[in-house]
Amino acid sequence: MKKISTQVGIIGAGPAGLTLAHWLKKLGIDSVILEHRSRSYIESRVRAGLLEQNTVSIFKNLGLADRLLREGHEHHGVYLSFDGNRIRIPFGELTGGRNITIYGQQEVVKDFTGAWIDGGGELYFEAQAKQIQGLDTPRPIIHFEHEGEPAELECDFVAACDGFHGIGRQTMPAGSFNEYTITYPFSWLGILANVAPSSEELVYAYHENGFALHSLRSSTVSRLYLQVDNDDHVDNWPDERIWEELALRLGTKGWSLQSGPIFEKSITPMRSFMIDNMQHQRLFLAGDAAHIVPPTGGKGMNLAVADIKHLVDGLVDFYQNNSLKTLDKYSQTALRRIWRAQDFSNFMTTLFHKQSEHGSFTYQLQKAKFDYIQMSEAAATTIAENYVGLPFETFETNV
Ligand code: FAD
Ligand code: PHB
Repeated sequence: MKKISTQVGIIGAGPAGLTLAHWLKKLGIDSVILEHRSRSYIESRVRAGLLEQNTVSIFKNLGLADRLLREGHEHHGVYLSFDGNRIRIPFGELTGGRNITIYGQQEVVKDFTGAWIDGGGELYFEAQAKQIQGLDTPRPIIHFEHEGEPAELECDFVAACDGFHGIGRQTMPAGSFNEYTITYPFSWLGILANVAPSSEELVYAYHENGFALHSLRSSTVSRLYLQVDNDDHVDNWPDERIWEELALRLGTKGWSLQSGPIFEKSITPMRSFMIDNMQHQRLFLAGDAAHIVPPTGGKGMNLAVADIKHLVDGLVDFYQNNSLKTLDKYSQTALRRIWRAQDFSNFMTTLFHKQSEHGSFTYQLQKAKFDYIQMSEAAATTIAENYVGLPFETFETNV
């Protein structure tokens, strides 16, 4: 049987796992990544696109942002629209010059995977972690299957960066955490189209037919989303219907939406999910393994990277000072930021999605919130500072 050993065993080559591996390498700490899927699968999985400034800074410090800086799009504002009334939130003025960058998650995964493998890093594709044993010992073992054969990875710590359906969270003992879930009564139909973006900055829109979002990937590829029912299906959405509905929901005076060939369509349910403890003995959960936010705030991938910052702080304290003090506080430290992002993502979701009849009490509250953002710099600042991402220091100092 294949037996390998390392310092940190990482399950999952998503943004969390790959960021952790590179960061540890930079600090001289060894790790091995196990990834259930193939390389081509993870490099082409279309998902997030919005990177906070914190995330971009981390990628820059890791020396992994060359292509991101060349091909990514830095945005200094965002448009919000309600019943066709479109306003702009300028990040620069409201956050002291912070911003966001649009760069596809699969591009991050490509860059990080390529750099890891080219640098001699160990990453096993089509390697599914099946069981984690010995978490109460100094050398836990991850049992995995690779090329149809059982194998073992022995390590000091297990980082479960294995997404919502991974085994990390399932390995946490019953009763060691509480779960919190909101299942929203709507989903997102997301498309990628070969057409130049009709807006240089993102547009989030409430319309009586439901939410719509205009985003982009490059000067020739647009990324757009529509609120649909949970039981809806892409087959109900021929291209013409999608473009008609997007034009209607995103529409505002003097602006028009350019349409083009759609080359990817998928439906994603909206969910908020949270656990209140992300560690057990030598097991640490990071990213979607521990929390899911609805994508309306653009926070999922950024939270995954932020968790890794805290986990790295803990691992460094252990390997440099032989102390478990920082690792012991990992959950507690990470959770403050995660709850903030949960609140913001829920706020954006409930503000811009159609939740009940147009004109209802709920609708009036949504409209009143939008009015307030339009009339109050304080309200606009709240949106801006959460959207671009609060600096790490905010959470350290403001206890
Ligand atoms: P993942 O990316 O899910 O990676 C986990 C990896 O673990 C996977 O590769 C999986 O194959 C592997 N794995 C699972 N189980 C095992 C196992 N047993 N053994 C080995 N490997 C395993 N976030 C943003 O920040 N901004 C956005 O704009 C945004 N938009 C989004 C839009 C959509 C439509 C969707 C669906 C998500 C969006 N997100 C966004 C969320 C973001 O994509 C996720 O939060 C992010 O992928 C989390 O990264 P992760 O590394 O924790 O998990
Ligand atoms: C995206 O570009 O895919 C994207 C951007 C912002 C969001 C969600 C998704 O809030």
